[in-house]
Amino acid sequence: MPGSGYEIARFLYCSGLFEEEVAKTYRHVAEITRDANIKCLLNYIADDSYKHAAMFKALGGYLTNVDRSVFEDCEKVLGSLWRNITENSRRIRGVSEIGDQELLKLIDGLEKFEGFVAEEYLTVLNVKTIELMAQETGLPIEPYVMIFEWVIEDEKRHEQILKIIKNHVLHG
Ligand SMILES: [Fe+2]
Ligand SMILES: [Fe+2]
Repeated sequence: MPGSGYEIARFLYCSGLFEEEVAKTYRHVAEITRDANIKCLLNYIADDSYKHAAMFKALGGYLTNVDRSVFEDCEKVLGSLWRNITENSRRIRGVSEIGDQELLKLIDGLEKFEGFVAEEYLTVLNVKTIELMAQETGLPIEPYVMIFEWVIEDEKRHEQILKIIKNHVLHG
């Protein structure tokens, strides 16, 4: 768990890159999905993830002026979450057609993944971390707390949306 402003900045920056990968993956699955409803729901999650990416990156940059190159090794910062998304997103983005069965399998994986992400953010972006951030930036703490709560709510919604998609595939 990050303990210093520098570590928090690193976590935020890597989370930004991570959300960008997630967003691209959802966008791609939306593109190769034929069903208009499913397409729309997947794009909704993609848009949320791009929004998260922009927010994390901005806050990470706010906290420190450290050279971006030190952030290269996001696998060390985010661990299995990072490995999971980089490996899977490359594979998924190589697929150009998808049937119902593969879509269901994919959605199953993404559902578990969304749960992990929410947990990870809940653990790291706790009140203590945010207090430290507020100290370092000299900014009021309230907006951070609120925004992080929204991000975590979004992640929980993503899980719900994926459940709706699964139901739609199964029962039309
Ligand atoms: Fe997200
Ligand atoms: Fe998400």
